[in-house]
Amino acid sequence: VMDVDTGKNGAPIQKTMYGIFFEDINYGADGGLYGEMLVNRSFEFKQSLTGWTTFGNVNVKDDGPFERCPHYVELAWPGHADRLTGMQNSGYGGISLKQGEDYRLTLWAKAAEGEGGIKVELIDQLTDSEPQAFVTQELKITSGEWKKYELIMRSPKNDTEASLRILLNGKAPVCLEHVSLFPVKTFKNRKNGMRADLAQALADMHPGVFRFPGGCIVEGADLQTRYQWKNTIGPVENRPVNENRWQYAMKSRISPDYYQSYGLGFFEYFQLSEDIGAEPLPVLNVGMACQFQNKDDSANVPMSELQPYIQDCLDLIEFANGDTTTTWGRKRAEMGHPAPFNLKYIAVGNEQWEEPYFKRLPPFVKAIREKYPDIKIIGTCGPAPEGEMFEHGWKAMREIGVDLVDEHYYKSEEWFRNSSMRYDSYSRKGPKVFAGEYACHGDGKKWNHYETSLYEAAFMTGLERNADVVLMATYAPLFARVDAWQWRPDLIWFDNARMFKSVSYYVQQMYACNKGTNVLKLTMNGKPVAGQQGQAGLYASAAADNGDGSVIVKVVNTGKTTQPVSVNLKGMKGERTAQTTTLTCTDMDAENTLEEPEKIVPKTGTLTCKAGKKCTVIEDEIAPMTFRVY
Ligand code: AHR
Repeated sequence: VMDVDTGKNGAPIQKTMYGIFFEDINYGADGGLYGEMLVNRSFEFKQSLTGWTTFGNVNVKDDGPFERCPHYVELAWPGHADRLTGMQNSGYGGISLKQGEDYRLTLWAKAAEGEGGIKVELIDQLTDSEPQAFVTQELKITSGEWKKYELIMRSPKNDTEASLRILLNGKAPVCLEHVSLFPVKTFKNRKNGMRADLAQALADMHPGVFRFPGGCIVEGADLQTRYQWKNTIGPVENRPVNENRWQYAMKSRISPDYYQSYGLGFFEYFQLSEDIGAEPLPVLNVGMACQFQNKDDSANVPMSELQPYIQDCLDLIEFANGDTTTTWGRKRAEMGHPAPFNLKYIAVGNEQWEEPYFKRLPPFVKAIREKYPDIKIIGTCGPAPEGEMFEHGWKAMREIGVDLVDEHYYKSEEWFRNSSMRYDSYSRKGPKVFAGEYACHGDGKKWNHYETSLYEAAFMTGLERNADVVLMATYAPLFARVDAWQWRPDLIWFDNARMFKSVSYYVQQMYACNKGTNVLKLTMNGKPVAGQQGQAGLYASAAADNGDGSVIVKVVNTGKTTQPVSVNLKGMKGERTAQTTTLTCTDMDAENTLEEPEKIVPKTGTLTCKAGKKCTVIEDEIAPMTFRVY
């Protein structure tokens, strides 16, 4: 029996409570969310032609029109009419095209003799189709100066294994730079846009906050390869590529040469936050390389040289919020967004710990507070949420005076079952909690199987109940390619053509779409909260939504038997109809897949709540291993 006091609003539940965290891991950006279909479009990978197969007379040059991306290719006469010069790119394990859809090829070109030509083809080498080229278009290069050209190509068929081929047409040499292919239909139809289905999946979660761009890539394997936001804005042609810290894929069909094109950069992150209605939460480097890969403080920036890193934070706030008369606000306006992005949060450092971090963070906090007193600053306390190191981290964060502390936990099923009370005992004074990365990792099973997701749902009742101290929470990681990944489980999986949402995705979505505005007091069998392992495996939380006046009750049955549940909605009278959303499954190892993307999805229904003697009552039975929202 549960009692919910619907008459008295408890702590507000922040709009940011359930959010998303995006990092370019598992080919989440290039080859994933970012709509670019070609690999190494700017010839800036360490080996200039990675991703390209060339034939005939192709030369790489390095005095191109874009200062930070100087490499380009020259296609020259192969010396005989029956020879060909050209190059082709198969994207990330084959370019995926849809019948009747348009694809935009853009490239920069010049013809040394003032005139030249290329032939552009979409080809399929892997099937028996004849001819291989199923789309062919000719493009005249009309200038000896660098100029941007565009072609729209419509695919006559579905093809997941296509390649783009470019052939020299004629004898005159032609130089090509920044060769790029996007679907015309991207999310919100933006030209430098996101893959529509993947971005829509983010929007459908109704995230309250959007943390980006990492994760470890903020730090880099070393400082040279840290994420530098200033390299990620302005014209895409002039954004230098950066080696990704996540080089080693457990399984990969595509080149292990993993670079960030920075085409999905900070402007695009802010714009995507706006598009999906989430508060942007950028994470910036604190002057440290990844602590997992660099145990020694000498890998980090000396204290005396921190200023440029601090300035990066201040400039970022100006880029997001400054008016168009400011240096960085003007750059944002030039990119097409004169209105500010209204940034409210900034995180400094990702998952860092001990003295190297504690000594570097204070000058950042001081400078940000001085210039932008309204911005909330997020610090971190290291990777493990237990033990002395963690306590030490929290103590330091209190002393430094950050507003929120970013906690990360990738933990076992048992930990998730036992930790719903984690925040009950947290101090209500000082910094609040941002659970910035978490996921239940099944013992020996690291995929998104049903059982782990259900325990996440159980654990999250504790986040909600403690909304006065937990202000935001984001599962991690977000995306993974089925054919190239470094880390699992992940929330959304995809290949070039398809995607599926994990059960954990649906858990997050059920919380985010049923968030409410205030916690309501809920007791179970007269006791204030669910016990350490829930009561008889039952976990619950309740919230009021002051917008529409509804009451929301979430119940998770982690037990192996059906449990009768009776919820007294005190303060409510008469018979009522409750909308229900239920996630259930009898196979604990079951999961959604590309082949069966909707094997386990929440189902909606209604339930008549009785008019009890004193209040409205939900009388229900909850099946084993089930999450239900009323
Ligand atoms: O989410 C994957 C990684 O886990 C993140 O990059 C890092 O912050 C954590 O160690």
